[in-house]
Amino acid sequence: MATESRGVIARAKGAPVEIATIRVPDPGPGEALVRVQACGVCHTDLHYREGAINDEFPFLLGHEAAGIVEAVGPGVTEVEPGDFVILAWRAPCGRCRSCRRGVPWYCFASRNATQPMTLEDGTPLSPALGIGAFSDLTLVAAGQAVVVDKSARPEAAGLIGCGVMAGLGAAINTGQVTHGDTVAVFGCGGVGDAAIQGARLAGARKIIAVDLDQRKLEWAKEFGATDVVNASETDPVEAIQALTDGFGVDVSIEAVGHPEVLRQAFFARDLAGTLVQVGVPSPTMEMQLPMIEFFGRGGALKPSWYGDCLPTRDFPLLIDLYLQGRLDLDRFVSETISLDEVEEAFHKMERGEVLRSVVVL
Ligand SMILES: NC(=O)c1ccc[n+]([C@@H]2O[C@H](COP(=O)([O-])OP(=O)(O)OC[C@H]3O[C@@H](n4cnc5c(N)ncnc54)[C@H](O)[C@@H]3O)[C@@H](O)[C@H]2O)c1
Ligand SMILES: [Zn+2]
Ligand SMILES: [Zn+2]
Repeated sequence: MATESRGVIARAKGAPVEIATIRVPDPGPGEALVRVQACGVCHTDLHYREGAINDEFPFLLGHEAAGIVEAVGPGVTEVEPGDFVILAWRAPCGRCRSCRRGVPWYCFASRNATQPMTLEDGTPLSPALGIGAFSDLTLVAAGQAVVVDKSARPEAAGLIGCGVMAGLGAAINTGQVTHGDTVAVFGCGGVGDAAIQGARLAGARKIIAVDLDQRKLEWAKEFGATDVVNASETDPVEAIQALTDGFGVDVSIEAVGHPEVLRQAFFARDLAGTLVQVGVPSPTMEMQLPMIEFFGRGGALKPSWYGDCLPTRDFPLLIDLYLQGRLDLDRFVSETISLDEVEEAFHKMERGEVLRSVVVL
């Protein structure tokens, strides 16, 4: 049996998204059916609809979501109907060479639902990041549904499912920002602002926000940036050096996904500093650095997928920090919208008018 649901579909490269009737199978072994309550619009959804991730159209978009477990399949012990969950795009398998070595945040065989959700004519959908949550219902691997405290509002909680975790984890887990560090964050969208909050939680003494958009820089200050640099007016590397006694920062975080920004983030580091790449590049982008600079400056260049998080460890923890008032999730929610406003939300994102538009179902 399958249940019908409305979902936001990207049918072809660059084409506007549309709402379609989709079929969501009943959960089979190891799967959970989730009634989505809220799902944020992340830049990665736009990357999918632009064909910048892969060509496996049609996509069912949406991957930054919270909801209630509706039903579970045979053998599921992680969750039960009625649980309030955040959906994770990493569900460590426990068996691959990385999990067995004790580093499950790099799991090489992360789980997803095995049955496909489909269009009415049976065409299988590719769910964005193995989730597909711009839909009343979605089918995931039970391990992707992470139980958190019910008292958090879904619009805020869902954001932990992608952008907030990616940014916060890039600073804390990947960049290992610690007390007294200086940090620069390039790109102050939802992901960059979460990195700023992460750096503040970890005790950074200086957090320099870089963006091209003055409005984004004002918001970055509200999240904890101590200094801002408008890269459309000033050379960001020189500005960051001037703010750090000429040296550069200990941790430099790229949250745009652009070769020139990566280069700036590389040169904005102090000697032995760490560069973290969070922004998603398109398949044709190339990184070019003089090898002598890579070698001579020392330190580390680290990509960060999903903030190197372990969802079952980190999601409940971040929700607790939110409920204690130590992590501001509400400030990310620029507006709440309905399913049929996702295309317009992409345009607002491109114009820099929002941090997060959140679909409420
Ligand atoms: N690595 C991960 O796990 C992960 C997870 C989620 C999102 N992402 C990626 O992170 C990136 C940011 O996502 P988002 O949702 O915050 O996007 P966003 O569009 O909300 O924010 C991007 C920001 O970058 C700024 N920007 C653009 N060009 C710039 C430049 N040259 N210099 C400085 N700032 C510039 C924009 O003004 C905007 O404020 C995207 O590439 C997204 O796909 C990565
Ligand atoms: Zn694994
Ligand atoms: Zn995302």
